[in-house]
This record gives sequence, structure tokens and C-alpha cells, in this order.
Amino acid sequence: MKVAVVMGGASPEHQVSLASGRGIAKAVEVLGHTAIPLVIDADGNWIDGQHEAIEILQACDVTIPALHGEGGEDGRLQGFLDQLQVPYVGSGVAASAVGLDKHLTKSVLTAHGIPVTPGVTLRGTDLTDTEAALQKLKLAGLDFPLFVKPANGGSSFGVTRATNLTTLLTAIADAAVLDPNVLVEREMAGREIDLAVLEFPDGRVETAPALEIHADPGQPFFNATAKYDSSATRFVVPAPLDPELALRLRRTAIEVFEVLGCAGLARVDFFVTSTGEAVVNEINTFPGFTPASQFPRMWAAAGLSYAEVVDTLIRTAVA
Ligand code: DAL
Ligand code: MG
Repeated sequence: MKVAVVMGGASPEHQVSLASGRGIAKAVEVLGHTAIPLVIDADGNWIDGQHEAIEILQACDVTIPALHGEGGEDGRLQGFLDQLQVPYVGSGVAASAVGLDKHLTKSVLTAHGIPVTPGVTLRGTDLTDTEAALQKLKLAGLDFPLFVKPANGGSSFGVTRATNLTTLLTAIADAAVLDPNVLVEREMAGREIDLAVLEFPDGRVETAPALEIHADPGQPFFNATAKYDSSATRFVVPAPLDPELALRLRRTAIEVFEVLGCAGLARVDFFVTSTGEAVVNEINTFPGFTPASQFPRMWAAAGLSYAEVVDTLIRTAVA
């Protein structure tokens, strides 16, 4: 098969995507297919030129959109591929768009009774009217420490842990530069546990053993530095969980995948408090996919190698 691997992109996660894409392209070759890397530069342009890229995409049997964040993981590239009528790995337009948008994700999951991190979304005049914003937080019963996030984004870019009013207002202003919708959420002190969801060619949707994040204790949270530039961050797979909690997380991850209408793969990230309360923090419809990333490491614990996971993604996409 000829497999196009799209990577890079105009989001702040450009470099992460290049690493995911290179890993995937290598695995595609290991599987005996031909990998054709297609890079989108940091300004959002296809480096081969758009006409050339379209010809390549249409000549391939399947496309792997190995992009994270805006422009690639948010349904825009998926819509472009739909227009070209080419099969691709992963979620379609709607699930990708909702999945990248933390405000919409929470709205949909809440409507289905799935617990999410408590918080509010600030937009429009809330972002300039401090009194209105603080009133909203008060009504929602939110108190410090708080997390401030742009609604769309990944790898914790633009995310701040705010411990007082001054840091909160700066954090809201910083996030508002990246997105017109800004989430302010309660800190869920406890454990950070992630689940990998994979769809198989026969339609089965399964999870791998859960992963627990032990973020670099020198960072205020599992931020971009703790994710990519720290040797002190550790992943534990399988996470030590009592069987009831493991089953609850597994069922919830699959429910999130189904409710959002995802396809192919997703990583569902949870916070678990000391009392065993589990809330969904977010979903990634194309999670980090370097050989060191969480998603392939969880599947390795289930006995699937990196190349076997890529093989599953391809076979499911063309099934
Ligand atoms: N958004 C980053 C790549 C992740 O999900 O791991
Ligand atoms: Mg994310």
C-alpha cells in the first residue's frame, strides 16, 4: 500500500507532530508499505505545494493525519480529505472538531452524564469585564487554585495554573490571545490517568492498560516542559489501579469515544481524586505518537508493538 503521512501543521504542536509523523512513517515502511511523508509548514502551507499534495493524497491508498492541534486534529484537514474522497485514519470532521474543543467536549459529555472537570467558559465581554468573569467563577463555586486554558489546543500550550487574582487575570488574557473561548477549571488534585482507545478492523473498540503520569515535580503541573523537556517525568504502565476503578475508567473511555463519534483511535485523559472520583479532563483524537509517547506505550503493555498499532490503524481505516 501507499500510505501518505501528513505531519507538521500550523499549530503550536508543529514539532511534536513532526516527531509523531516520522515515527509513523518508519513503522509504515517496517510493515512493508511505502510511506509518503507530506509536511505542512508552520504557516499552514504544504511544503510540496497544494496541487502536488492533492495529487499525492489521491494516489495513496490511505492517509494518516499525524497532526496535533488546530488545523489538523480539529476536523479541518479531515474535511479536506473528505472533499478529496480519500480514506484516512482516525476521527472524521465532527468528532475531531468537538474533541479538540474542550468547551464543546465538556458540553457533550455533560449532556451524556459523563463527569468532567468542573469549570466555566469565558468568552466575549467576560474576557474584558473582570467583574463579570469573577461573578461567573463565583456562581460556579470555583476557587483557587484554578487552571486557565484556551478551549482549543494541545500539549498544554497556553495553559496556566493560577493561584491568585493577579495570576488568574494574566492567565485569562494570555489564553484569550490563543482562543476566543477560555476555560477556567477547578484543580483536580490527585492522580492523572490516561486511557488509550483503539478501533479494530472488525469494529471492536478496546482500551489498553491505563497509564499514570508522574509529572516532573519541579513543574507546577504536567505542562509542555514536563511533557517534552524533562527527564523527571515518568509514565507508569500499567497504572496500579484497583479493579473497580480500572473497569470504570475503561468503560468511561469507550463511552467518551462512542458519544463523540470517534473513529480509529483516541486517548482519554482523566483526573482521579483521593476519594476515587474520576473526571474526564480531555480527549485527544490524534494523541502524541512518537515511539516514547503514551499511546503506543499503553498498547505495548497490551502486547501490540508500535508497528502493530500503526497496522491496526491502517487496516481499520480501509476496512
Ligand atoms: N496533544 C499531544 C500531542 C498529546 O495528546 O499527546
Ligand atoms: Mg490534548
